[in-house]
Amino acid sequence: MIRRFRPYFSYLRPQRGLLIAAILCGILAGLASGAGLPYMVKKVFPVIFAPQALPLSAWELALITLWIPAVFVVRGVATYLNTYFIQLVGTRVLEAIRLDFFRKLQILPLSFFQKNSTGDLLSRGLADANQLQVTLTTVANEIVKSPASLLGSIGFVAYTAYTEQGVALVLVTLAVVPLSVLPIRYVGKKLIKRAGQIQAELGGVTDIFSENLSATKEVRAFNLEARETARFSRASQTLIRAQMKFMKYEKALTPLIEIISAVGIAFTLLYAYKVHLAQDTFITLITALYASYEPIKKLGSLNNEMKRGLGSLDRLEAVLQAPVAIIDGPAAQPLPVARGELTFDRVSFAYTDGESVLKNVSLHLPAGTVCALVGPSGAGKSTFANLVPRFFDPVAGRVLLDGHDLRAIRLADLRRNIAVVSQDLVLFNDTIFNNLLIARPEATLADVETAARAAFAHDFIRSFPDGYATIVGERGARLSGGQKQRLALARAFLRNAPILILDEATSALDSESEAAIQLALKKLVVGKTVLIIAHRFSTIRDATKILVFDQGEIVAAGTHAELHANQPLYRSLYDRQQGT
Ligand SMILES: Nc1ncnc2c1ncn2[C@@H]1O[C@H](COP(=O)(O)OP(=O)(O)O)[C@@H](O)[C@H]1O
Ligand SMILES: [Mg+2]
Repeated sequence: MIRRFRPYFSYLRPQRGLLIAAILCGILAGLASGAGLPYMVKKVFPVIFAPQALPLSAWELALITLWIPAVFVVRGVATYLNTYFIQLVGTRVLEAIRLDFFRKLQILPLSFFQKNSTGDLLSRGLADANQLQVTLTTVANEIVKSPASLLGSIGFVAYTAYTEQGVALVLVTLAVVPLSVLPIRYVGKKLIKRAGQIQAELGGVTDIFSENLSATKEVRAFNLEARETARFSRASQTLIRAQMKFMKYEKALTPLIEIISAVGIAFTLLYAYKVHLAQDTFITLITALYASYEPIKKLGSLNNEMKRGLGSLDRLEAVLQAPVAIIDGPAAQPLPVARGELTFDRVSFAYTDGESVLKNVSLHLPAGTVCALVGPSGAGKSTFANLVPRFFDPVAGRVLLDGHDLRAIRLADLRRNIAVVSQDLVLFNDTIFNNLLIARPEATLADVETAARAAFAHDFIRSFPDGYATIVGERGARLSGGQKQRLALARAFLRNAPILILDEATSALDSESEAAIQLALKKLVVGKTVLIIAHRFSTIRDATKILVFDQGEIVAAGTHAELHANQPLYRSLYDRQQGT
């Protein structure tokens, strides 16, 4: 089982100095309690309680009685340093695990996030990473310490028993120690299944939490307060039940081991009676025997801890080892500035196996084509456009830019050549200025203002008391839909990339602002290869080429005049909107 954790012990490597210090302190603490106390019973008691004892000098008496506090000082300080160092190692390890997890989330394909929910991923990155950290540090701390103090105290028992009475006493006192393995194994087996279940249920609870927080408006608009609370409470109860089941077995371990140890003591007592063992020898033996059950209990809970860790490890690895489908190939070529010639070569695409969303689409767009995509909703227009920045890769066929397969172009270069304005845009909870700047980090304030003016955003930005320094709120919550769209367009202006994708980019604007932005867009599109998806036909009439999508296929292509004359689907879509 410990083999499963082996790759992750590498997280401990940079902390090995601290870890070794922690383990040494742990061993010292173990020695102090494992051997120090029985030794005290053996050496101190006889002197104090011996009936024939000579009167002790004050000096001797002090030395003897101070043995007890001395043992406890050593034990206390060593235990403190051990836990402190281990915690320190733990926090650093946790940071490293969490960072790796987060880094991985940045490069996973979008499809991954459609299969995994936000809350569950949050829970994996926080709770499971935390659990793995606890497991790794506990294992690292105990894996040497507990066996060492177990061997120490058993050695002491064996030695004392042997010198006092011979092999027979050794066998009697230690006979039941191996029996402790039974409850450890039994409990461990019960826990393995349940540990993963707890973490999954925790993910479920986090999920409802995060979903609820992202739907605050809907909850109020549809009176969902009670329903949501009930849903949360149900998930919460399930989690608690899973935790209780885990605890039921986990907490049984210590009492079981203690019962076994009591049986061991009873046997020793019986034997002591038969062989007339001296009282002080017996007490020494019992203390040492009892001390040796401490590390056994530790090893047992270590076993439990590993089961817990395995559950989390599985959940972390589902992310850490998820394939990164969209990544630079070994032969990825740089592409500083694209001309913008796009070719779709028999492209098919499906989000889920078997349900094709794009069917064998071929198309050539010379650089500088302004191309509009129309068709009923669900026809595949957005999907088609999303293949260009490689948000998804085609299932079959290929997409080419300037004659290069997109998969042969460095991903960062490809995306630098594309500006995307989509309908569901997200702003970061930062200033307006910084939100615009991400489109071109090296831009000056003047560049940003020019872009904002072009997108008719400058005036409303200036009307805020803080102007460009206004914080937009989470996802841009403090702005209206139309304002957000103008900022998105301003980003596109600022980016000034040779390829421009506008997916319902003006849908949230009122018709007056849209008319103004149409003018701006006319300037923006000049010389660029443009894919424009718009629900208003006024936007697309001037396109050099219009593609009509239906059920994942391009059913017609041409200019507005040609299509309106010859294409029934186009004509019906167009006429319905014109109200004729
Ligand atoms: N992330 C997704 N996962 C699964 N199916 C999707 C996803 N996005 C879109 N679809 C499906 O793919 C089809 C095309 O969607 P889309 O390209 O968004 O259409 P359009 O933009 O033309 O309205 C629809 O049937 C839609 O249900
Ligand atoms: Mg769409």
